[in-house]
Amino acid sequence: LSAQNQVTLQADSGKVIINKHIYGHFSEHLGKCIYGGFYVGEGNTKIPHTKGVRNDVVDALKKLKIPNLRWPGGCFADTYHWKDGIGPKNKRPTIVNTWWGGVTEDNSFGTHDFLDMCELLGAEPYLSGNVGSGTVQELSDWVQYVSFDGISPMSKLRKENGREKPWTVRFWGIGNEAWGCGGNMRPEYYANIYRQYATFMTGWDNNNKIFRIASGANSSDYNWTEVLMRDIPHNMLEGVGVHHYSVIDWSKKGSASEFSEQQYFTTMQRALKMEELVTKHAAIMDKYDPKKRVAMVVDEWGGWYDVEPGTNPGFLYQQNTMRDAMIAGVTLNIFNNHADRVRMANLAQTINVLQAVILTNDEKILLTPTYHVMEMYNVHQDATLLPVKIKTNDYTLNGEKLPAVSVSASRDKNGVTHISLVNIDGKNVQDVTIDIKGAKYTAVTGRVLSSPKIQDHNTFESPDKVKPAVFKGATLSTGKLSVKVPAFSVVVLELK
Ligand code: AHR
Repeated sequence: LSAQNQVTLQADSGKVIINKHIYGHFSEHLGKCIYGGFYVGEGNTKIPHTKGVRNDVVDALKKLKIPNLRWPGGCFADTYHWKDGIGPKNKRPTIVNTWWGGVTEDNSFGTHDFLDMCELLGAEPYLSGNVGSGTVQELSDWVQYVSFDGISPMSKLRKENGREKPWTVRFWGIGNEAWGCGGNMRPEYYANIYRQYATFMTGWDNNNKIFRIASGANSSDYNWTEVLMRDIPHNMLEGVGVHHYSVIDWSKKGSASEFSEQQYFTTMQRALKMEELVTKHAAIMDKYDPKKRVAMVVDEWGGWYDVEPGTNPGFLYQQNTMRDAMIAGVTLNIFNNHADRVRMANLAQTINVLQAVILTNDEKILLTPTYHVMEMYNVHQDATLLPVKIKTNDYTLNGEKLPAVSVSASRDKNGVTHISLVNIDGKNVQDVTIDIKGAKYTAVTGRVLSSPKIQDHNTFESPDKVKPAVFKGATLSTGKLSVKVPAFSVVVLELK
């Protein structure tokens, strides 16, 4: 058994709200995320659906309280022409998905389908505009089409297509990965293009609430953030993106479910890198925007492994194990603790792609370990961040070390405090002592996600192998909480 880990919780000094949009998701036209995942077609008689959108998926995602959903990409977004996805479905042109498997799509899932689906989910849409191969006019027209309440060519077209009132669309991405699949641009060039696109996106929504997000840096490309913050006037910039995946090695990613402890350890190194990335990108943003007006938007994050054997390599279909639960737990703790600047994020991707929360197989669905972490953590959405300090033991392997325990805490609108603890140690239980300052609690309850093996995952045959259970390992005494956090587990405590 390890020595004690020490946490100090400042329960009376919360100032920052954990924006619920940190808990956002991402759904691209990629593999079976949209077609077969969310959408099975209006004519489907086998799978219960609402206008083609699976009811089981909607029910599961509602329990997560997903605050926003990003669409239609990813790399796909910079090839997508939204006008091909409106109007009668049998008249829509096809599109070849050149980034993901080269498949031909029929455009049957378009703007109306996505925005109506967001209303079903109770999630705010986040639309990624095509900058790489589109035009300023095309993106400006899209904003007009979905948001304009007055009389105009685009609002007329929307009404003809069956939607009288505009939807509420605040979040807009101006391109995606402009440094790569979005056009291989240099930051100075992209910053100029951004200014041009952003100029013509306003004036269409009455409340002028548009929230424009610049295509952000690839992991540690700090120069990208520097140039964007320097060259784009801040009155036309509401958010700056960052993308970071937990990948062992891009040329040798390894299996999603059959991996060694060393591979697990390396994945956790990559995931914990998010702390450094967020800190350093934030420091650059602070330099240009000390009042923190512009949000950091980590609009792609998660684990990326080899596809499952026998599946299309372009579809990025991978299993999801307790390792992924660890990535989710530590990453969300990092975002919570940086909530002053990180105000939005999107896990990649919701269904059947990369670190998915749901996998589907025809009429069957399963909830992954990552789903359960997102569900357990949704108590932090829009709660007040409570500052924590931590002194943790190391998780050591082959001479390398990582912090074993990670933590974040918040107080919700009803005055209930939640503490989320993650122990990534591949072998040891971690004893954590939490000193509570500034509050007196009388009761503690909790839930835990753990499993005998780090490779454990849910399958269509055994969909409930990994699921949360009641946690009995916490004891409260005056001003102190003692918690036994099992090896590679996530614990969320509730204090009253
Ligand atoms: O999420 C998969 C892909 O990863 C996205 O399309 C792209 O933006 C990123 O490179």
